[in-house]
Amino acid sequence: MLENQPTMDLEQAPAGVNPMIPNTARIMDYLLGGTQHFASDRGVGDHAFVNWPGETGGVEGVRVDLHAARDSLRRIVGHLAGECGIRQFLDLASGLPTMGNTHEAARAVAPGCRVVYVDSNPSVAAHGQYLLASDPDTVFLEADFRDPQDILRRAAATLDFSRPVGLILFGVLHFVDDSDGPQRILDELLGAVPSGSYLALSHFAKDDADTAMNAMLTEMDKQTGESVTRRTRSEVERFFDGMDVVPPGVVETELWRPPQGASGPKPLPMWSGLARKR
Ligand SMILES: C[S@@+](CC[C@H](N)C(=O)[O-])C[C@H]1O[C@@H](n2cnc3c(N)ncnc32)[C@H](O)[C@@H]1O
Repeated sequence: MLENQPTMDLEQAPAGVNPMIPNTARIMDYLLGGTQHFASDRGVGDHAFVNWPGETGGVEGVRVDLHAARDSLRRIVGHLAGECGIRQFLDLASGLPTMGNTHEAARAVAPGCRVVYVDSNPSVAAHGQYLLASDPDTVFLEADFRDPQDILRRAAATLDFSRPVGLILFGVLHFVDDSDGPQRILDELLGAVPSGSYLALSHFAKDDADTAMNAMLTEMDKQTGESVTRRTRSEVERFFDGMDVVPPGVVETELWRPPQGASGPKPLPMWSGLARKR
């Protein structure tokens, strides 16, 4: 448990947010050190991950992994808003817009960036809408990323699809198995944005070199009941077919342009990558 970390009281729950039913987005906020969660989320965060695998492992290991993933999102979005000049983003299955999520990362580099967040959990969407209520350049949609046409239609009220867009699918496609058409989702999204747009992905890794780790992760997926499709580096690289992949390519999350001299506990294998639409 993080000492002295503030947690919201039940009566602080925004309209449409059920503080009694924990959700992944709020648990993530808690584990990342945020303030937008309730006792129910803290309970899960403190107890559900005691067997989390990895070098650090346990609840502390989850924190290491989540921070590595969020730091990599921040670097990629910062690169898009900086070197690539992207000013509008569509972030699918975003979780809560807290703790350095996309609009904060983009605006740290280029104030005024527009962001549409999408999450299918009604409680997460209501919470996101509450947090962004006073921000005219962000919108939080309750929608399912498996229906890109619905998202694109609704996002068009905020984003200009005649100009390049940063598509952010962080920690998303591993919830889509091959029969469910991850490529179809990408094709529909990329078909709607102009040349010069970018696709950013992060994805749970299947690590060919470490079958013991794979076995442990598969066992954990069984315990959590989550249906996760882990993919190898080349399988994730294939999602970028026909695009210009930005160096260093598809790499372990912590290795996507790490800050000079950065090192820390090694997170679980996860791929990150960024590519430009031709
Ligand atoms: C792990 S969390 C946040 C991940 C976030 N993109 C990140 O990298 O920090 C995953 C979120 O995906 C949402 N989600 C799961 N399935 C979804 C779907 N089919 N469409 C949209 N959101 C979904 C969940 O509600 C949850 O808030």
